[in-house]
Amino acid sequence: MSRLQVVSGKGGTGKTTVAAALALALATEGKRTLLVEVEGRQGIAQLFETEALPYEERKIAVAPGGGEVYALAIDAERALLDYLQMFYKLGGAGRALKKLGAIDFATTIAPGVRDVLLTGKACEAVRRRGRDGRPVYDHVVMDAPPTGRVTRFLNVNDEVAGLARIGPIHNQAQAVMKVLKSPETAVHLVTLLEEMPVQETADGIAELRAAGLPVGRVVVNMVRPRVLDEAAVRAASGERREEIARTLASAGIADSGALVGPLLEEAAGHARRVELERAQRAVLDGLGLPAYELPYLGDGADIAGLYRLARELRRQGVGAA
Ligand SMILES: Nc1ncnc2c1ncn2[C@@H]1O[C@H](COP(=O)(O)OP(=O)(O)O)[C@@H](O)[C@H]1O
Ligand SMILES: [Mg+2]
Repeated sequence: MSRLQVVSGKGGTGKTTVAAALALALATEGKRTLLVEVEGRQGIAQLFETEALPYEERKIAVAPGGGEVYALAIDAERALLDYLQMFYKLGGAGRALKKLGAIDFATTIAPGVRDVLLTGKACEAVRRRGRDGRPVYDHVVMDAPPTGRVTRFLNVNDEVAGLARIGPIHNQAQAVMKVLKSPETAVHLVTLLEEMPVQETADGIAELRAAGLPVGRVVVNMVRPRVLDEAAVRAASGERREEIARTLASAGIADSGALVGPLLEEAAGHARRVELERAQRAVLDGLGLPAYELPYLGDGADIAGLYRLARELRRQGVGAA
């Protein structure tokens, strides 16, 4: 299993939820995972019902079996200060940075540089080792920008190419790309069984591949149970009015005549959705990627729901050696 798992997808398909469930699922058997967010939305804090995350890794959940999930909201300005301190060994950082003009730079920071700082921080967490020489985190899961922006976000080398004269940033971009393009990384795309997100997923995969980034899995989220079998779906789309009215009457339901219309409409609606989902599933199958499938949580994606999704992911092989 890759050590850096990047989760993207069309907005609203469940990126943050899936990233959190994945981090929980990977924290099996005493493993430690870091869940990072990069867009300053505090979505992770909301999901885990904790206060806003500071720029600091802190434990937010314990997985069944004793694993731990840490979380970090990465902030570009703070990442820049970290970075300068690390690379230039700046003591008395504040004073020195002011002298360098870095504080001003931090507020007007170019988008490409911002991205390399954000991805750089995540890659640093992947590579970080403790005193015992073992990785501090077994896995890092990133709640990434949406599909339309993720390739550009991850392809930091191209983004900073125009700034190549700034040596250290260029070197940092290359170091980051080395991690992002390695088998240590997998980029997953979350989708629903609906036309728009599936189309975005197909486009996103093509873009990621063209950029040489490792595509992981498609995560089909919010899958609803089938309530009608094949025969019932066919019946609902056909003209079986009389027969259904007779069946209702023989079951002793009063005023069964008035019930037939709404019931058939309901069933036909379900049948149409099943058809649409089938078509979208065929498109996804055509992409030839392995998929995870997560159920629609009727009670919403609260903490209990997250643990349920994590269990579901483990059942589908996440965290298996
Ligand atoms: N499997 C699911 N079942 C039910 N609701 C879900 C599921 N996954 C996500 N949600 C809900 O969908 C909404 C969007 O999810 P979120 O993870 O914030 O998406 P994104 O990060 O892609 O914008 C949230 O209200 C979340 O609780
Ligand atoms: Mg989100």
